[in-house]
Amino acid sequence: MDLYEAVEQRRSIRDFTDEAIPEETLKRIVATAYNAPANDHFRDWHYIVITDKDLMKAAVNGVPQDLTEKTVDDMTFISDPVQKESYRVAVPKQYRMLTGAAAVIIPLMKKKADILNPGNLSDLNCYASIWCSIENVWLAATSEGYGCNVRIPWGDEEKIARKVLDFPEGYMIPCFIGIGRPSKDAVKTKQLEVDLDEMIHWQKF
Ligand SMILES: Cc1cc2nc3c(=O)[nH]c(=O)nc-3n(C[C@H](O)[C@H](O)[C@H](O)COP(=O)(O)O)c2cc1C
Repeated sequence: MDLYEAVEQRRSIRDFTDEAIPEETLKRIVATAYNAPANDHFRDWHYIVITDKDLMKAAVNGVPQDLTEKTVDDMTFISDPVQKESYRVAVPKQYRMLTGAAAVIIPLMKKKADILNPGNLSDLNCYASIWCSIENVWLAATSEGYGCNVRIPWGDEEKIARKVLDFPEGYMIPCFIGIGRPSKDAVKTKQLEVDLDEMIHWQKF
């Protein structure tokens, strides 16, 4: 699959088959993280790859398991119907999309600045860089015929994962990644249509 095709095919996949992913394939996919651009040249991210189901469940045990479409209907900030439908698909699956995956991949970012209270945009460079690496992993997974989803840890989710996985305080989880073979009926949410002529500007806005 060439790059443009992988970019086109990449979608959030939250429904998987039971198929395991060979360790060497997971390694090849995660290795692409280390080709991503990095603000400080270090690429000192760690990636934890969990394939043990009990450990996967324990690591994401903080993720809510009782979210429903009603939860989404109560979210007053969503106005667009396509966006709302994508939330109605995604929100109830937050726990299942991780525990039902072949593996949970956890990127770990070194805390180099107070990213929750940034003084400058550059304080967020480490966060921006690790997301470049996450996109590499997502695209590599897609090109191998697998699918991924991401969940941003909320509340105690990171704390719970840290305790289970034993990673040091100096690291943060930017997101949990679920990866696996998409099931036949895997839902791909409708995309918002983008008018490229309106969004891409030549010379001036
Ligand atoms: C920064 C970021 C945070 C996201 N957080 C979540 C999340 O917590 N849970 C989830 O199911 N999807 C999450 N997503 C996936 C988006 O919902 C998804 O990418 C978007 O709806 C477009 O759909 P697509 O990925 O199928 O193209 C996140 C994506 C990004 C880039």
